[in-house]
Amino acid sequence: MRSHYCGDLRVQQVGEEITLVGWVHRRRDHGGVIFLDVRDREGIVQVVFDPDRAESFAIADSVRNEYVIEIKGLVRNRPNGTVNPEMGTGEIEVLGKELIVLNKSETPPFQLDDHQQVSEEVRLKNRFMDLRRPEMQQKLRLRAQVSSYIRNYLDTNGFLDIETPILTRATPEGARDYIVPSRTHEGSFFALPQSPQLFKQLLMVSGFDRYYQIARCFRDEDLRADRQPEFTQIDIEMSFMDQDEIMAVTEKMISGLFQEKLSVDLGEFPRMTYADAMLRFGSDKPDLRNPMELVDVGDLMADIEFKVFAGPANDADSRVAALKVPGGATLTRKLIDEYTKFVSIYGARGLAWIKVNDLAKGAQGLQSPIVKFLGEEVAMKIMARLDAKDGDLVFFGADKTNVVNEALGALRNKVGVDLNMLTCEWAPLWVVDWPMFEKTSDGGITAIHHPFTAPSCTAAELEADPLAAQSIAYDMVLNGCELGGGSIRIHQGDMQKAVFRCLGISDEEAEEKFGFLLNALKFGAPPHGGLAFGLDRLIMLMTGTDSIREVIAFPKTQTAACPLTNAPGVVSNEQLKELNIKLREKIKI
Ligand code: AMO
Ligand code: AMP
Repeated sequence: MRSHYCGDLRVQQVGEEITLVGWVHRRRDHGGVIFLDVRDREGIVQVVFDPDRAESFAIADSVRNEYVIEIKGLVRNRPNGTVNPEMGTGEIEVLGKELIVLNKSETPPFQLDDHQQVSEEVRLKNRFMDLRRPEMQQKLRLRAQVSSYIRNYLDTNGFLDIETPILTRATPEGARDYIVPSRTHEGSFFALPQSPQLFKQLLMVSGFDRYYQIARCFRDEDLRADRQPEFTQIDIEMSFMDQDEIMAVTEKMISGLFQEKLSVDLGEFPRMTYADAMLRFGSDKPDLRNPMELVDVGDLMADIEFKVFAGPANDADSRVAALKVPGGATLTRKLIDEYTKFVSIYGARGLAWIKVNDLAKGAQGLQSPIVKFLGEEVAMKIMARLDAKDGDLVFFGADKTNVVNEALGALRNKVGVDLNMLTCEWAPLWVVDWPMFEKTSDGGITAIHHPFTAPSCTAAELEADPLAAQSIAYDMVLNGCELGGGSIRIHQGDMQKAVFRCLGISDEEAEEKFGFLLNALKFGAPPHGGLAFGLDRLIMLMTGTDSIREVIAFPKTQTAACPLTNAPGVVSNEQLKELNIKLREKIKI
């Protein structure tokens, strides 16, 4: 139908007779002439209808927002003084000659320019309309371009795109599974994959050597701004490659992407050990745009009377740390109280602070609820260690190490943003040398990455002291967001069984759940490793969006539902019967 996209028209087309199709974005009646702003996916162009063409003028008069129309007309320069530099098509307009209404529209549920006024629920319920907004079109277009760039990069580097099953068995990545009942195997269930992890490993055993997939993953977990129950991974696996080689290939991919799509040079990514990241930033995904660091001060407080600090200072599982906020002495008590409330979300039982008013006056120059408990000598030693200056504010956390890290780590992020302290736009890094396991709240242990990650020690050493073992794992972090994670995998059955035993999975249970993997490892499994990026998070960062739902065409809400289709929905009793499923009384349909 069309000869050009609306948004593509430029002065080069002046004098051409053209055909456009699109939606009426806005209709303006300027006493005698009618202007239609016509929109398609490339942009908006102004079309003018004069009364001398009575038929098309009458139709132009009758159209309303979001009608779908076809226009034949002549491209001409806009009259002097009416050029609009804000619009790509702002130098020209189209003189409308013929106008056909291809389809009408009811009054839209919200005006496209007014989306901020309507709730996200309304936007999601009418997502087909919401996605007409140029901003949403741009985000999804970038998403398509990023996928295309990634495919091209991986294709040209010898990776094969191979699909893996969606109906499968549980793949332990730490979240709850979505399960699907099987009709043909009564009482049995498929699980949707939390990631293609085990299949990609099997593909390495099969000799494909380099695999990738832009894969949908499913995790029934508590949703946050950067989490969806179904999301997309750029999933990658390689054989005969060590950690450095895998990191080099994938770093080059992300750097190239930012260079090409955003003209941003990310530079070489620094590497930081997990231990260092936790110590200096209280986080395994530190935002290095933020210049503040946590500093341990427990050793200076071991002998003081104040139990709140002395207790943790003398306990191996605890930590006393300080966070210096340069220039923070101007913060009001009200704001400090708000920060105290904020850290309590992370389990902190308080947030001690010192305002550095006049260091030359010693403790007299420090304003604080705790200096009297610390004593002058300790207080001044702390100031020296932090290199505090007049006008600074120091926050303190004293508790179990994980509580202090989480609380001060989150506070560091918040204060950094609140006080506009970020020093650059992009700060990537690799976090390496992760522990294999961590303790769970019920006293057990769990894999920090997943149970297929290779430890950097022998199986005997691993079983002797699991919590001391390190893994050959690496995460890519950008601006405080975990963009991707991966590891070298276990390619020998004995080691894999040792890891299962550490996790309290008996040999029998391992055989039942992961027999297919253990079996494959018996038949010449090559050394291999890989990594997966979160595509949605990547697009969030590239578009500067803080909600993952803005970069997914049809996302789920915070309660994992779809307001557009009303999924999840009830199913009929016949269907349930066929699946041999009986609902409990309370929710019977
Ligand atoms: P992991 O569980 O770290 O690793 O996931 C890899 C990346 O996927 C993204 N991601 C998510 N994005 C949106 N919503 C979610 N619910 C969600 N969960 C994870 C993150 C994360 O870095 N099989 C391993 C990878 C490997 O070892 O190769 C895995 O799935 O950006
Ligand atoms: P208190 O003696 O409990 O009133 O505490 C004195 C100061 O120490 C207050 O500013 C509290 O916010 C702070 N505080 C209490 N417990 C902790 C803790 N675990 N970590 C850091 N500061 C704390």
